[in-house]
Amino acid sequence: MKGRIEVKRVELSDAESVLALYRSIIEENLPYIMNTPVPSTEQQIEFISGFITRRDPFFVAKLNGEVIGMASGKKADMGRMEFSFSIHRAHRRKGLGAKLHQRIEQEAKELGCFELFAMVDLGNPSRPFYAKRGYVADMEIHSFISFTGISLKAVTYRKALSP
Ligand SMILES: CC(C)(COP(=O)(O)OP(=O)(O)OC[C@H]1O[C@@H](n2cnc3c(N)ncnc32)[C@H](O)[C@@H]1OP(=O)(O)O)[C@@H](O)C(=O)NCCC(=O)NCCS
Repeated sequence: MKGRIEVKRVELSDAESVLALYRSIIEENLPYIMNTPVPSTEQQIEFISGFITRRDPFFVAKLNGEVIGMASGKKADMGRMEFSFSIHRAHRRKGLGAKLHQRIEQEAKELGCFELFAMVDLGNPSRPFYAKRGYVADMEIHSFISFTGISLKAVTYRKALSP
């Protein structure tokens, strides 16, 4: 698909488009993702408002007005921030995830965070992404059963941030 991709801070008006991306990822039935039920538009608006109110970073990548990638950071305890991102399957391996990650990392530093972390399933093929960007995986493995009954085994990837 032709057009310019822009990366911007999420707005409430992006809720439907963010939801469409989320739905497409759930429909992939990836065995290494902690799928949660697709929210309603109202719930999605509330979810986005939470990020805006808390001043947690949430960026979207848009192509012709449509959200094709999203990345968010949620402040946790003791100056840590949890990172999560998803790119539409048609747009993967083109550097978009890296671009969004860079925005979150920059903002985490500006907010004074000293660590970014992400919970990643052992079977997720994108694990090299984290290693390449200076994350280190914990030894501890966390086991989960997702609401769809999928069994997940995740590790925490951590990256220390320097100001
Ligand atoms: C993980 C995800 C967001 C990566 O986004 P992306 O735009 O494809 O990533 P990039 O193109 O920026 O990748 C940068 C580098 O990370 C590594 N990487 C990313 N995805 C990879 C994969 N599937 N397999 C191996 N390496 C991968 C590669 O080193 C890649 O560089 P290269 O393409 O030059 O080899 C995307 O695959 C996705 O949405 N997956 C489904 C949801 C998910 O798993 N989210 C993360 C867990 S919460």
